[in-house]
Amino acid sequence: MSDKPISLVASIDQGTQSTRFMLLDHAGQVVSDAMSTHEQFFPKPGWVQHDAMEILASTKEAMRAAMLEAIALHRSLKVVAVGITNQRETVVVWDKRTGQPLHQAIVWLDTRTSGIVQEFSEKYGGADAFRSITGTPISSYFSAFKVLWLMRNHPHIEQALRDGEALIGTIDTWLIWNLTGGADGGAFVTDVTNASRTFLMDINTCTWSDHMLGVFGIPRSCLPEIRSSSEVYGRLRDVGLSDLENVPIAGCLGDQQSACVGQGLFKKGQVKCTYGTGAFILINAGEEKVLSTHGLLTTPCYQLGRDRPVTWAIEGSIAIAGAAISWLKDNLGAIDTAQESEQLLRAIDDTEGVFFVPAFAGLFAPRWRSDARGCIVGITQGTTKAHIVRALFEAIAFQLNEIVAAMRKDMQIDSVPLLKVDGGMTKNSTFMQLNANLVQTTVEKPKNVEVTAMGAAFAAGLGVGFWDSLDELNNLNDHDTRWTPGVTQDFVEAKIRGWNDAVEKSLNWV
Ligand code: G3P
Repeated sequence: MSDKPISLVASIDQGTQSTRFMLLDHAGQVVSDAMSTHEQFFPKPGWVQHDAMEILASTKEAMRAAMLEAIALHRSLKVVAVGITNQRETVVVWDKRTGQPLHQAIVWLDTRTSGIVQEFSEKYGGADAFRSITGTPISSYFSAFKVLWLMRNHPHIEQALRDGEALIGTIDTWLIWNLTGGADGGAFVTDVTNASRTFLMDINTCTWSDHMLGVFGIPRSCLPEIRSSSEVYGRLRDVGLSDLENVPIAGCLGDQQSACVGQGLFKKGQVKCTYGTGAFILINAGEEKVLSTHGLLTTPCYQLGRDRPVTWAIEGSIAIAGAAISWLKDNLGAIDTAQESEQLLRAIDDTEGVFFVPAFAGLFAPRWRSDARGCIVGITQGTTKAHIVRALFEAIAFQLNEIVAAMRKDMQIDSVPLLKVDGGMTKNSTFMQLNANLVQTTVEKPKNVEVTAMGAAFAAGLGVGFWDSLDELNNLNDHDTRWTPGVTQDFVEAKIRGWNDAVEKSLNWV
């Protein structure tokens, strides 16, 4: 145990599958880190829900475990700020007096709103009808469609919203409100990155759009205040640990934008891919936003301070990445551990004509088809588990390749020479090589791959002056592993033709 006083910044990383609490020192080194999981509810095909109270409880559990570990290492420690990063789009509606959710949270992956999506596309003139306001296409992915479904299917929720008795929030808002006092004066806020994923924020002003609120019939008073990603929003209250009492929450970003900050994506043109439940590729587009005309999203990358400008990103989202490995394990029983999937991937060099389109939640970028469904094509008597597993990994890389191609067109650049990667699947070196091959670019990984948690800590540290500049942050997490393309462009193009044929099947299934 050390007696030397130490100051730390903390980060809550609330993801789709788990919640992490991480404590970092001034050099960006992880002092302690704890994780807890929460249940996934699948009440009907295509539906995905979370218990928001369980998420809150598991957040506190992770906070406690990591704090106790840090206290055991350092007799005298001070947490100067905490940052929050979260699964985006997932939405909770709760009673503002009791703090009780009025329904389980509807998760970003949930496709129950496919019907509403189709209705909107027809009524308003196509999937891109609101793109100039929201930066995004009409899709089941975004929160407002989920709220509308709740209002249409649960009249008491609609009534509570109309009567001003209920609040609407993405997971950042839910956690900040609860951790700063809840019904007893909790801060009701979100940041610009999370707000942009609701389909209700006007990207031209970074405020709630009256037009979109009218389209959905959502009262403005039920929505949180939109703030920057780095400033003091409130102070921790009653979280069950005296060392955390009154600590300011000073950073807030959606998890993919947080990963951009953690990766040091501070220059225009830099690109990262985070492999979590899904995979999300963002390019820093600079301070002028770029409207995608190739199926990608225009979204804030970060706004690191109230008086700082918004830095924009273009994003390509892939719904299913790590979730596919969970599916192999939990639904199919095809593997016992994630490591086994890497062994199977390594076992063969080629899928021998097998393609797998894991459109379990429809297809996201660049196609945005909530009605697409998963399919496996090209199976023969000789097809083995290894072929199917490899085809699943290849599917992620094919989608990544499509997104990078769309990004090049939107940004009018010839190439993306470097892709910074992070997240759990980067442990699978064979998969990273596959990405370098199929995207035909160099792939680079930092020492600490938990950059999502680091990004929120960086934003919080900047918010309280623990760190001063982006340059300082840039030096805190070196990149130390690289993969370069090992196959020819011709080889890739032939594979892509097969992939495109398989995607057609998936699009025309329903
Ligand atoms: O947009 C959804 C995304 O934020 C979820 O991220 O890491 O929980 O898969 P993750």
